[in-house]
Amino acid sequence: MSFLKFHEWGAKYGDIIGLKIGQQNVVVLNHYKHVAELFDKRGANYADRPRTHITHDILFPEGLHLLFADYGPTWRFMRKAMMRLLNTKVVDTLLPIQTAESLVTMQALVRDPEEWYNHIQRYSTAVILASVFGLRGTSFDSPRVKDLYATVHELTNLTEMGSTPPIDIFPFLKLLPDFMSPWRTRAQNLRIEYRRVYNSLVDEGKENLQREDAPDCFLKRLLDDAPETGLSAEQITYVCGAFMEGGSDTTASAMLSFILAMAAHPHIQRKAQREVDSKCGLDKSPTAEDGMDLPYLRAIHDETLRWRPVAPGGIPHAAAQDDWYNGYFIPKGTILFANTWSIHRTDEFRDPDSFIPERFVDNTFGTEPSKVQGDDQSQRRVNYTFGAGRRVCSGMRMAANSLILNMAKVLWTFDLVPENKEKPINTDVTECYKSGILVFPKKFPVKFVPRSDARAMVIEREVQDVQPFLSNFKQ
Ligand code: HEM
Repeated sequence: MSFLKFHEWGAKYGDIIGLKIGQQNVVVLNHYKHVAELFDKRGANYADRPRTHITHDILFPEGLHLLFADYGPTWRFMRKAMMRLLNTKVVDTLLPIQTAESLVTMQALVRDPEEWYNHIQRYSTAVILASVFGLRGTSFDSPRVKDLYATVHELTNLTEMGSTPPIDIFPFLKLLPDFMSPWRTRAQNLRIEYRRVYNSLVDEGKENLQREDAPDCFLKRLLDDAPETGLSAEQITYVCGAFMEGGSDTTASAMLSFILAMAAHPHIQRKAQREVDSKCGLDKSPTAEDGMDLPYLRAIHDETLRWRPVAPGGIPHAAAQDDWYNGYFIPKGTILFANTWSIHRTDEFRDPDSFIPERFVDNTFGTEPSKVQGDDQSQRRVNYTFGAGRRVCSGMRMAANSLILNMAKVLWTFDLVPENKEKPINTDVTECYKSGILVFPKKFPVKFVPRSDARAMVIEREVQDVQPFLSNFKQ
């Protein structure tokens, strides 16, 4: 877990750390003020991504993968097309599908609680499958959901720093034959699989759009708008891929961290349940609108993303030109990490390793007023879980809608109880999380216990009510 090493070095060397890995310059930013200055204020210079042999030469040589694309005209063009669909107005039109899939998830948690870990993961993939392609992902084992998770996992594993030999630092490694370079075969296979999975989803989505009652979906909008946006068929496939990869693992990881936090802190869970109950009563489960109106729940959402950032080391940016900052020279091509783990754990936060939603109730940034007195915080983001600068996550609003809605529904429907009441739930990030560029809670011993039969019945009834809507999506 490199972010922990960066954190340790930060305590020793300060909140800007410079490293040299072979010929490669690397800078780690451990305080938000440096990220605000470099990524946000000097955005044009820090919006590039590192060029790597695996991403740029083998996986995506066309430069069409939004996350890895160089900062240039193609990236700008595709990001613009994507943002037409991810602005607040359009994203909020997805609330009916998010609500319906959330209800199906609650029903699955009531009926089959043993499989809770898979139900939570299915949700985020199913929402994006429906929103982007108009297709359903009804179970975690369905081929669509399985294929997508497998592709996204392999992509994150293969592109994580350190997971393959240092080909970019010692380019002679590229010359080794295939039998000595299993990473090359893995990357080539992933390229084939990646294109197979997304091309078949686009084909299936297009076929589905021939139906008269096919639901509106992002693929339809991308195809309809193509004469205006100028997106080619291949670019459309990559934009759809960016939705899937951006939104599935990330949202699931944040939701699992929320469940971990609730199971480990029963007093916080009770307090949040009281708030949800007072707003929603017993006759219906909470809606996304209810969720937005619950200050303590929103504080839990912010604290979850602060406490366990999904990409704790940050997704690397690269400097496009030479620059000077704080007396340091940053040469062109330097790789920069906004180390979210440390940014969320400076001494501006009281007891930063603890899960304390209250810190966000009266304070937008969750900081201690006495520690930030006199600081200009106008450039500060509520959290850095979504990155910063021109490459900041394009799906923030969609993620917030899903998280708030599901957090509210889980708290309203269930008590989250440790399997063994005598043994508190362990939340240690080194022991309880799968590491990678994105971290992910491993399965932990929690039980989803419906708070009453009446609540479980409400969920059953509400699932029945959304069936006609869900049946518009291709099974
Ligand atoms: C809790 C959920 C999510 C988290 C924590 C998250 C986090 C991130 C982070 C850290 C980045 C890199 C930012 C940077 O380089 O500074 C990113 C980029 C991105 N995210 Fe998200 N994300 C989430 C949900 C979503 C969703 C729902 C979508 C779309 C449906 C999405 C689409 C993207 C895309 C397309 C990029 C690439 C942006 C670029 O390089 O231009 N994300 N996300």
